[in-house]
Amino acid sequence: MRIAVVGIGYVGLVTATGLAAKGHDVTCVDSHPSRVVSTNNGVPPFYEPGLEELLAPVLQEGRLRATTDLHSAVSCADVTFLAVGTPTKDGHIDLTGLRDASEGIGESLAQSDSWHLVVVKSTVVPGTTDTLVRITLEHAAGRKVGTFGLCMNPEFLREGTAVEDFLRPDRIVIGQWDQRSGKTLAELYRPFDCPIVFTALRDAEMIKYASNALLATLISFSNEMADICEATPGTDLDRVMNALYLDRRLSPVIEGRRLSPGILSYLKAGCGYGGSCLPKDVLALRNFASERGLAAPVLDGVMAVNAARPARLVARLEQALGCLEGMVVAVLGLSFKPGSDDMRDSPALGIIDLLCQKSAIVRVFDPCVKQLNGVVSSCPIVPCSSPETLLVGADAALIVTAWPDFRQFDWNTLCMSMRRPVIVDGRNALSGISLPSQATYIGVGKYHFTEESLRNEQCINR
Ligand code: UDX
Repeated sequence: MRIAVVGIGYVGLVTATGLAAKGHDVTCVDSHPSRVVSTNNGVPPFYEPGLEELLAPVLQEGRLRATTDLHSAVSCADVTFLAVGTPTKDGHIDLTGLRDASEGIGESLAQSDSWHLVVVKSTVVPGTTDTLVRITLEHAAGRKVGTFGLCMNPEFLREGTAVEDFLRPDRIVIGQWDQRSGKTLAELYRPFDCPIVFTALRDAEMIKYASNALLATLISFSNEMADICEATPGTDLDRVMNALYLDRRLSPVIEGRRLSPGILSYLKAGCGYGGSCLPKDVLALRNFASERGLAAPVLDGVMAVNAARPARLVARLEQALGCLEGMVVAVLGLSFKPGSDDMRDSPALGIIDLLCQKSAIVRVFDPCVKQLNGVVSSCPIVPCSSPETLLVGADAALIVTAWPDFRQFDWNTLCMSMRRPVIVDGRNALSGISLPSQATYIGVGKYHFTEESLRNEQCINR
């Protein structure tokens, strides 16, 4: 099929390249000329493992190209995907980009009377496709939906594994205006081997929010359990959770073998969730509920627990060092998760801010994030290019992202080079690694004995 994809962002380019790799003819559209040029040169404008390798052959074989000309792309296509960003503005989803793109597509549809399928890929709150998008399209096209098709087709791509997620999806959700729209989109996805779920447009929109809200809920639940364990001598969150995972409803035993479903990795405590999706989507869903006069205490709690993570980690560090003023704190990891250079809503940002407010001297190191300009603006930080420069003379190390690289460091030597070998492991990333006896190791969900806590404990027991 001939396809136009509007928006050369993360979702748009992965979708476009994946569809071209499956044999379709794809034109990507973006109003930023630099994105168009870099796509045509085979260089994705963001880091995503495997994407450049997938892009090269489809460009070479002429199955994908990029342009700033929306009208020519839509008029040459049978199906147009809307994959523009839907950022949060003042706590609400900002649909300006989606409206502008819908208007442009509608104007192209006005030039012909042939049937054309428009597919919303952007994450939007329920009702957006059949109101804002449909009405904008109809108005600009001068004809009603039905003379063109409309679907809502949420993405479930994870940064770092987006190419794999797209090429081998768990499921494809097709919210359809009518059967012709749904059937056309299903035909486009024929090369993919997975269940296709046909739903109403609003179900499809809600499925995306429900999926991300569940992931965020599991993370906040684990973090709350961590706080409770940290206040309870004799407990260790890892021991507690490892036993919890063995519930067959969480890790089924099939033919004598226990499975370890991916969902369990969201049942791990840490610095909190971040990235471009979970924080934005939970907030949008919460506001969507409020607009309908509903309290959403679970979502409120999920967000509150998450918002408190940076302060919690910094407080544990402060407790270990006594005071943070003038202390050299080495922050390990900046991206919101390993395998990504994305710092959007990364817990590292809040943690660094708090450290600066407390007048610590902050050094940072990340194996992937190299560009810090403008990202951490409120305070001077010292970027380091190696674990040695990061840790020599430091008063403490604070692990924020669970990069596997950190496990490979020579912690014995590094601890010796620190002024005070205090390690606050915000991801339990060094779990099981032997550290020198002089090191003070403080993991998430692990009670840390201090003189004060021992005194408190004696009081409680009396
Ligand atoms: C998420 C959803 O997973 C994806 O389906 C949706 O389309 C977009 O939003 P992504 O933002 O890439 O994808 O992040 P994800 O890998 O899910 O991580 C979100 C948060 O969960 C991160 O803060 C990360 O640290 C945490 N996480 C991630 C875990 O706690 N455990 C994991 O195994 C993976």
